[in-house]
Amino acid sequence: MEPISRRRALQLGALGAAGVVVGGWGLTRQFTDLGGVRTTGGGGALGSPAELRSTGGTLRVELDAAPFTGDVAGRRVSMLGYADGVPGPTLRLRPGDRLQVQLRNNLDEATNLHVHGLHVSPEGNADNPFLTINAGETFDYDYQLPPDHPTGTFWYHPHLHGSVADQLFAGLYGAIVVEEDRPVPVARERVLVISDISFDGQGNVRRASQADRMMGREGDLLLVNGQVSPVLEGRPGERERWRVVNACSSRFLRLAVKGQQLQLLGMDLGRSERPDDVDEVLLAPGNRADLLVTLRAGTTELRTLGFDRGGMGMMGSGVASGPATLATLAVTGNSVAVAEPVPDGPTPRDLRDASVARRRELTMAMGMGMGMGGRMMSFTIDGKEFDHQRTDQEVNAGDIEEWTIRNTSPMDHPFHLHVWPMQLVEERGRPVEEPTWRDVVIVPAGGAVVVRIPFEDIVGRTVYHCHILDHEDLGMMGVIEVG
Ligand code: C2O
Ligand code: CU
Ligand code: CU
Repeated sequence: MEPISRRRALQLGALGAAGVVVGGWGLTRQFTDLGGVRTTGGGGALGSPAELRSTGGTLRVELDAAPFTGDVAGRRVSMLGYADGVPGPTLRLRPGDRLQVQLRNNLDEATNLHVHGLHVSPEGNADNPFLTINAGETFDYDYQLPPDHPTGTFWYHPHLHGSVADQLFAGLYGAIVVEEDRPVPVARERVLVISDISFDGQGNVRRASQADRMMGREGDLLLVNGQVSPVLEGRPGERERWRVVNACSSRFLRLAVKGQQLQLLGMDLGRSERPDDVDEVLLAPGNRADLLVTLRAGTTELRTLGFDRGGMGMMGSGVASGPATLATLAVTGNSVAVAEPVPDGPTPRDLRDASVARRRELTMAMGMGMGMGGRMMSFTIDGKEFDHQRTDQEVNAGDIEEWTIRNTSPMDHPFHLHVWPMQLVEERGRPVEEPTWRDVVIVPAGGAVVVRIPFEDIVGRTVYHCHILDHEDLGMMGVIEVG
């Protein structure tokens, strides 16, 4: 099969490939306001990114990272996207698949690609965060998912240290779905990629100040699949599955829909045996939620409730990820029959009784004193800023380890480890009762979390970092080698 580019996929969409609706359009049609007010105007039916699905065990795609220009409220804005739109296409895979991505760098600066959450090799031309793809270059990535790869919602974004937050904030991200054998019966499944962005008076993506970077920048506008305040339509009784990606560079999302019952099927990877009723779900930057909603008649809003993620201590005031409306849910018409029951999922693995080969402590900190580039404040793990030449943790392949991750700073930091998922076993001093797997865990200000990690299947050298991507760019990242 020939690799399919986004442009090609768009053409296929126009020719009527089933279920392909083009999300990038939202960006050019939906903005009505540039003035720094969150989610004003908008409206219009929610679009979805193009979907590219593996066939015969392989998915080959071309991703063009490039600037593009959209029309916003009669003004032009410039963003970055994986060819013409935001978000990039959704890549649909099965466990055991091979994913081949030809990345073409049509930016005017270097970039690279990371497949966040995939349990694949971090070496060579696979999920290697140390690669640099220069402007004008093309690079062939090749990822092999193991046959027992976890199902769930994952995503892709650039990972070139120093420019990750700038590039992601400007529009470079897309979703990856690893599908189950026995899917939950639903009337429709939606991929909801939530991001934020700000523009300046010229319609360019607003540059972050030094203070923005230290706090972790948050955008003035919230986008769902590249749209401001889109409308999701359905009929009473229909069960929908929402695969939500928090693609904001720093903003925490506390999702809630008044008047609708949300059920959490899973977060980040895998699923629980049975979905849990929840009133809200907290997603740190990088987290994903797998939600079921059985629609009730009426018009309600999908909102993010405010979340205080701490502050800079003596440097200034706190940072709140403020409350905002993300989308409207309009449920009208005749009720449909009750949906079939949700099949039980497999019992998740539980490492709480496993024997632990080694325990480590890692400390995330913000310090006064000279950081990179003469900054007033440094962002460190174990007192050190990122150095790609230094290996901070050496782990024996096959070991199960227990890590206590501390945060001595006055701000929450979401800790992310590439390649190997983590089981959260202790949070805020309390044991976690259910087997809970994540690839991003929130380490609260002045607190700690304990995780257990099976360093199995895959060897190689990669990174762990704060997923407030400004902090990662400022140095809050370390290198791990498993072998
Ligand atoms: Cu989503 Cu290392 O990142
Ligand atoms: Cu990642
Ligand atoms: Cu951080």
